[in-house]
Amino acid sequence: MQQQAQPQMIAGNWKMNGSFAGLGDFAASVRAATTPAELLICPPFPLIRPLIEAFGGAVAVGAQDCGIERAGAHTGDVSPDLLAELGASHVILGHSERRTDHGETSVLVHRKTEAAIAAGLIPIVCVGETEAERDGGEAENVVRAQLAASLPKNFAEARGIVAYEPVWAIGTGRTPSNDDIASMHATIRTSLGRQLGEAGGSVRILYGGSVKPANAAEILAIQDVGGALVGGASLKASDLLAIAAASRSV
Ligand code: PGA
Repeated sequence: MQQQAQPQMIAGNWKMNGSFAGLGDFAASVRAATTPAELLICPPFPLIRPLIEAFGGAVAVGAQDCGIERAGAHTGDVSPDLLAELGASHVILGHSERRTDHGETSVLVHRKTEAAIAAGLIPIVCVGETEAERDGGEAENVVRAQLAASLPKNFAEARGIVAYEPVWAIGTGRTPSNDDIASMHATIRTSLGRQLGEAGGSVRILYGGSVKPANAAEILAIQDVGGALVGGASLKASDLLAIAAASRSV
């Protein structure tokens, strides 16, 4: 099946950062820029609506997590339906910080992904190995197992996105070699095909982990990299836009 070229996605993951102060300036800088990329910003829950308003529809806004069901007795969790009602378009799921801080397993990520899709959100499911797993030659097996356990069958139809984020590259300033990124993205592509059939070929695969203006062009040029999930560098509009300027159509 011939895929249509589309812009790479540059998704900002603000994590537990950001505040009401500064939101207007950030949004104004991003809105004023012309960028070849499809932009998405995922701030903390309370900033989703204000950021949507500040962007005026010019940039997509998403969440960093959602509940395992669409409603019910889950104290402290946020329903994916409520996020959709708020205007969020995407939700990051299974980020390694969720897995570490909250003990999230791929089984839980699967439930959240199903709930998000049912609510009409586009899930961005994160996978990635630890440094010990890479050193032990287990990186590809770990990622394959995470994909197998996390993704529901309708993932591709729901325009689901996979983010490959090696845990040891997040917030460390270290990145895998270009060859390692290319080979992991190829492994993910093969797994998606096996799990989801032909539709697996259309799933966007983002790279995440210490993407900065200085390394963006190199990383975004790698085969099968559909964009980037950016943490630290997404907090500054100028850095985010510099990364977006290095993107291309794929
Ligand atoms: P980083 O984070 O860009 O700060 O390394 C990426 C992420 O965790 O999504």
